[in-house]
Amino acid sequence: MSDRPDDPAGDRDIEVQRLRRLFRFFAATQCRGRSPVYEALSEGIAGDDGLLDLLMSTPGEQRRPSLLFAAVNLLLASDPGSAPAEYYPVHGGRRPIDDGLVPAFAAFCAGHRDELGRLLRNRSTQTNEIRRCVALRLGLDHVSRRRPGPLALVEVGASAGLNLLLDRYRYRVGGQETPSVAASPVTIACEVRGGSTSAGQIFGPVPEITSRLGIDRHPVDLADPDARAWLEAFIWPEHTDDLAVLRGAIDLAVSTADVTVVPGDAITDTARLIGELPGREPVVVFTATLLSYLSADARAAFAAQLRQAAAHRPVAWIFAEAPGLVATADPGLAALAGPVARHNALFLVGAGLLGPGHRDDALLAMADPYLRWIAPARDEADDFQWLLANADAD
Ligand SMILES: C[S@@+](CC[C@H](N)C(=O)[O-])C[C@H]1O[C@@H](n2cnc3c(N)ncnc32)[C@H](O)[C@@H]1O
Repeated sequence: MSDRPDDPAGDRDIEVQRLRRLFRFFAATQCRGRSPVYEALSEGIAGDDGLLDLLMSTPGEQRRPSLLFAAVNLLLASDPGSAPAEYYPVHGGRRPIDDGLVPAFAAFCAGHRDELGRLLRNRSTQTNEIRRCVALRLGLDHVSRRRPGPLALVEVGASAGLNLLLDRYRYRVGGQETPSVAASPVTIACEVRGGSTSAGQIFGPVPEITSRLGIDRHPVDLADPDARAWLEAFIWPEHTDDLAVLRGAIDLAVSTADVTVVPGDAITDTARLIGELPGREPVVVFTATLLSYLSADARAAFAAQLRQAAAHRPVAWIFAEAPGLVATADPGLAALAGPVARHNALFLVGAGLLGPGHRDDALLAMADPYLRWIAPARDEADDFQWLLANADAD
């Protein structure tokens, strides 16, 4: 092995070692407790030169665990009789994890090397997690208390735009139904942590929404069966309930035809697209997992777009994002000067009301990134140390 930095062979070894660490990290931080199949596979991939070699044949920025797993999952969906599918409950598999899993996965990848290579080269991560509507509703509740009345809703990084249908879903939060539409084929379930909201009623009715617009660099066209299948491929093997919820939300979106997601870049198009919205009511801009796609400069540019839009019309930014990324996007958020910003394995839910010459920020909750649970702030000055004291800063 060469360790000269300009030696391609040495570079390759360094990159393979990085991928080994990445998959082990993914196993430990993302999969443990969430997906035994992906945890075992991630560990297996970290130790399998053939699988790492497959990743090395794709562009560097595409070498991501979630992308590899989605690409394989997509192929398994059209081949549910294949050996790895036996371990995937989403494909009807019931086989417990055993020594056959990683070899079956590796053999499947070897047998589909060309198709996988094409998917890994050409596709990007594309998820739409509607449980994040819980964060959006919490934020809307906060904004409505500050500014009662109708609101226009924009999601930047909206994917298929399913979060824009937040008032078409039912919610079971903290084990209790919360006020929402009486009948919906989709129920979003979220645990509440922290004990301060034992009734589970963490938010009130959704305010009137005058218009809904999604902006995404790569909008998902739900009318396209391939795009829909790719979205579904990001559901993890054991999460049959999530698959059912996603399919229900997609069917709802297709049947109501109420959601528009336009192509646009967060850092260049946000202010312009907000400026083109009709009306004068405040515009709520929601982002969830957008900032992790942006460089530090791009995050700052996005925050600048929001301030630019707010020069003409009241804007509120509701976010469900890693706190450290919010802090770098918008250093003006004084509440993020504390230790919260170091806990990037969790999401921070917050709202910033921007207007000409003023701002009003609030940290509303910490949450699991997939909004399986949410811990609402206990008061306006909550720094969440009660929650974070035992969590490792990362
Ligand atoms: C992980 S998905 C999250 C989708 C949705 N917000 C949710 O929570 O389910 C992130 C989305 O951000 C989009 N995205 C990434 N960078 C972007 C950019 N610079 N401008 C607009 N959208 C972007 C991606 O295309 C993707 O649809």
